[in-house]
Amino acid sequence: MSKLEIITLPDPLLRKQSAKVERVDDDLRRLMDDMLETMYEAPGIGLAGIQVAVPRRVLVMDVGFGDQDDEDEDVEPEKDPIYMVNPEILSRGTEMRLHEEGCLSIPEVFAEIERPNVCQVRYIDRDGEMREMACEGLLSTVVQHEIDHLNGKLFIDYLSRLKRDMVIKKFVKSKKSDAVVA
Ligand code: NI
Repeated sequence: MSKLEIITLPDPLLRKQSAKVERVDDDLRRLMDDMLETMYEAPGIGLAGIQVAVPRRVLVMDVGFGDQDDEDEDVEPEKDPIYMVNPEILSRGTEMRLHEEGCLSIPEVFAEIERPNVCQVRYIDRDGEMREMACEGLLSTVVQHEIDHLNGKLFIDYLSRLKRDMVIKKFVKSKKSDAVVA
């Protein structure tokens, strides 16, 4: 497995629509394994293909991973990865859930975002089997955040235009100052 580079704002690829995966093969499994390793190392609890510059409809998640208590810092959290290919939200509950979201592609920006607390997702798993999963709570938030990535949508799009523009400006600026240094 190898670690991949995570792209960040203002990379225009993040706004690209990802293409459907035609076949789950060893190449795709290798990509998913690399994505998972990249996500764990970041660390994060979800990662979409487009975030490693691969515009295909694939994502990995592990919502238990970021959930360790401070006193257990030395204990490796148990891994419980979820792999989704061509995920599709079949239905959403009406009850909403507020969660402070962040994104590996928008470092150091966090904002409370409201999304449905439950959703039903259909996807193809790592073995190429069609599956359905009832997602609730944090998993519901994360899977919706990741599927948004596949459609070129970011969590900052749920903010007011003013707040979103402030975030975007910050990243354009930091990009510019990097260029001067380089
Ligand atoms: Ni994200």
